[in-house]
Amino acid sequence: MTRHRPAAVIVLAAGEGTRMRSATPKVLHAIGGRTLLGHALAAARALDPDHLAVVVRHGRDQVANHVAELDKTAIVADQDDIKGTGRAVACGLAALPEHDGTLLVTYGDVPLLSPSTLGELVEVHDASGSGVTMLTAEVADPTGYGRVVRDPSGDVLAIVEQKDATEEQRAIPEINAGTYAFDVAVLRAALDRLGTDNAQGEMYLTDVVALAREAGHRVGALRTADAWQVEGVNDRVQLAALGAELNRRLVVDWMRRGVTVVDPSTTWLDVDVELEADVTLLPGVQLRAGTRVRAGATIGPDTTLSGCDVAQDATVIRTHGTGARIEQGAIVGPFSHLRPGTVLGAGGRIGAFVETKNAVIGEGSKVPHLSYVGDATIGEGSNVGAATVFVNYDGVAKHRTVVGDHVRIGSDTMLVAPVTVGDGAYTAAGSVITEDVPPGALAVARSRQRVVEGWVERRRPGTAAADAAARARDATGDEATSHPPDRQNGPQQQDQEGTVRA
Ligand code: UD1
Ligand code: CA
Repeated sequence: MTRHRPAAVIVLAAGEGTRMRSATPKVLHAIGGRTLLGHALAAARALDPDHLAVVVRHGRDQVANHVAELDKTAIVADQDDIKGTGRAVACGLAALPEHDGTLLVTYGDVPLLSPSTLGELVEVHDASGSGVTMLTAEVADPTGYGRVVRDPSGDVLAIVEQKDATEEQRAIPEINAGTYAFDVAVLRAALDRLGTDNAQGEMYLTDVVALAREAGHRVGALRTADAWQVEGVNDRVQLAALGAELNRRLVVDWMRRGVTVVDPSTTWLDVDVELEADVTLLPGVQLRAGTRVRAGATIGPDTTLSGCDVAQDATVIRTHGTGARIEQGAIVGPFSHLRPGTVLGAGGRIGAFVETKNAVIGEGSKVPHLSYVGDATIGEGSNVGAATVFVNYDGVAKHRTVVGDHVRIGSDTMLVAPVTVGDGAYTAAGSVITEDVPPGALAVARSRQRVVEGWVERRRPGTAAADAAARARDATGDEATSHPPDRQNGPQQQDQEGTVRA
């Protein structure tokens, strides 16, 4: 990313984050599908430092476990009982192997800081030979931030915290971002001299600036014009604001790369989605972590996909999908629920009110309406009639159903797994299939229809139904239908196939 690599990065993540009012440590809250700490670690890693440490304390184990998940080689450093950003950096430094050169400090709660800004900070620092180079920005409301105090020639003299600042200093619009490049030796010497004589009784990292100057080192500053990049999250209002800005940037970036986004304000993309040029995203689309969409595909409106793979020219309408693969030209939705392990083959179809799970549906096969397909393999060119259920669960274990190529499953079929329907076979509508169906066979598994002629006029006299029946009888003049005897339930002689419409 940058020609200038820092020797080390320390990410501060020990603070309490009380204003989040959350049982979850602040840095583990997420925007764009990645935790705040995840964003900070990704930016730091992009610089390819020799060493990377994360300073933890509040919610220690949760944060440390998260670091271990994200970054195997990051060092977790524990901050002790002494408070303050200066102490945090000292604890981080103590955990790192001995080294020289440039050390970068960033925060775990500043998610929009980009690798290129960090790289520029290192570059400016290395080129200037300063002891410290800090990142600053001018913000509309500097309240709460440390202010950057410069001398008349523009050199940085000190950083003064809000609580320690004079009225005059509080009027300074340039704030300390909290991101610094240090010469490690200069930092080490200054940390040894840090005190807690300030309004908060903490060891301020900001005091290193004045101490470095006293020791005869230059303090430089890189002022960024992009104030969003230095903004930290302190409460949930800022979490939402930064989340929206991150999303806006991601959407703009994808549009510049050739993705059509009809309504950027209702399109939400996680940082690690992958889109190709000529993908179209309709309003109300959320693409979550690990989703990939290929050229020519159209997603939405109102669709949420997580960890899904959508191939070229596929269409996914009003769908909720997790861990599904949709092959080329296939069509999904509206109102489909794709659960993990769903694979829809090229040109296939999953339609309205269909739920699928662990279901591999072959090329050109269709499940168009109102069905549940769980733990199934369906071959090519098969059709699953409306309201079919792949009955996969016996109350204890899940079982698999295999349907071959060019099969016609009649509407309202229950396929009680484990069961296999061979290539080219048919099942009759309304069947409960409990035994394997050989290739080419028709399986009928339902009770026969019984007709009791004249029942309504006899048993429901005076109703609208009886009147309608009487009118129908008079119109056809069919005497045979009037007052026949009740027929009892029993096997009929009619040919089974004659009743089937598949
Ligand atoms: C700090 C700076 C301030 C700057 C602001 C930018 C100091 C004294 N002040 O103020 O000049 O404008 O950041 O956002 O440095 N942390 C620890 N251990 C601690 C305390 C904090 O790891 O003991 C971490 C926090 O988790 C957080 C970061 O350091 O990631 C900043 O801490 P915070 O308390 O928010 O500092 P500010 O008071 O905002
Ligand atoms: Ca802060």
